[in-house]
Amino acid sequence: MERSLLVSLLCVWALSSLSAASVDTTEQCPERILGNERRQTCPKKCQQDKDCGNKRQCLCDGQCGLSCVAPGRTCPWPLPPGKNFDVALLSPSPSFSALLEVRCKPGFAMHNGLDSTIRRCQGDRQWSGDEPVCTASPRGGLAAEPVLVPEVSCSLPDDELLSVQGSAIVGSTIHYQCAAGSVLIGNSENICHENQTWQYPHPICRRVVCPPPKEVERGHLVAVQRTAYEVGDTIYYLCKKNFLLDGPNQVTCLPNGTWSAEPACRARCPVPAQRSRVIVGGVKRWPYDLTDGVVAHGENVTFFCKHPEKLCSFTATEVCVDGQLKQPSCYLDPTWLQFKLFPHRLVSEIDPCDPADLQ
Ligand SMILES: *[C@@H]1O[C@H](CO)[C@@H](O)[C@H](O)[C@H]1NC(C)=O
Ligand SMILES: *[C@@H]1O[C@H](CO)[C@@H](O)[C@H](O)[C@H]1NC(C)=O
Ligand SMILES: *[C@@H]1O[C@H](CO)[C@@H](O)[C@H](O)[C@H]1NC(C)=O
Repeated sequence: MERSLLVSLLCVWALSSLSAASVDTTEQCPERILGNERRQTCPKKCQQDKDCGNKRQCLCDGQCGLSCVAPGRTCPWPLPPGKNFDVALLSPSPSFSALLEVRCKPGFAMHNGLDSTIRRCQGDRQWSGDEPVCTASPRGGLAAEPVLVPEVSCSLPDDELLSVQGSAIVGSTIHYQCAAGSVLIGNSENICHENQTWQYPHPICRRVVCPPPKEVERGHLVAVQRTAYEVGDTIYYLCKKNFLLDGPNQVTCLPNGTWSAEPACRARCPVPAQRSRVIVGGVKRWPYDLTDGVVAHGENVTFFCKHPEKLCSFTATEVCVDGQLKQPSCYLDPTWLQFKLFPHRLVSEIDPCDPADLQ
């Protein structure tokens, strides 16, 4: 009963903080009373969003009242397992205004006699209230001796890309993690000393970006021009007419700040033969029958060469590399007369040599 009342009260809070951005909700949010809240400091006081600069909003931060908070920042989660109690997150994520339920194990209770409490994620990235303590409850449900645990903790980082796991109370260790698309610079683990200082400075998360991709010769990039691109951004490549794309038609900005590929547009090759057939794509054909008399980049072209002494032929293959297709040194293009008068004696039409002849 008490618990559901508490939950609904805290829900009003959470809801009012959500709508605080649009309307004046001073009525629903408590006035800040100094000393009322058990935390080191309250965030900057405000009446409306414009009091807070562009990164923060004016939201209801519990007993601190309307305060400038960054709503994307999270409180430590998951928390280390507690002694004699369980914790459960009641909100989808541990961000500002999220609710957390602390429930004592059966037979245990808190100093106020209740067996559960709700904590709220505050603007300073700490869970509200004291660190819970559940002690064995005396039979008969009488309230146990009050146990006051002052909140002694280190301050949490103010970086919305950085999330923390673990607890910031004195003597405990936290782990840091950066949001997708950013890398952690510094120590990923830290310990809060007795004197409420961290062993190391908080790390920072640096956003990963890719530089603008290289301009592609004989083609176009299909992308919004920017000085830097975010991880996951995709750019498409198109080649001008008659050029073949060598590589994928799209590249993506990778988590290490490089592009997934560097496509190029390759030129087609004129075939350096006119009056004898060649083999292209497994088919023996006349060069003038090839579309535009050219082959694509990467295509193999097999030429027929004449044996220096015998009347037979052997083959030599060359590959088209970006507009360049060499004529094999053994190949001799037949003359116009040979082509017209003795078509059956052209080097591509005579019998192939016996392998023994080629030794
Ligand atoms: C806090 O305690 C740690 C460990 O005992 C020590 O290294 C550090 O110098 C202390 N810092 C301050 C500000 O006293
Ligand atoms: C970036 O990551 C990709 C894929 O994981 C890898 O192939 C590439 O070598 C990396 N580049 C650098 C500069 O680390
Ligand atoms: C060209 O020949 C090479 C070597 O025989 C082969 O690896 C390649 O796949 C061929 N390329 C094409 C387009 O047929």
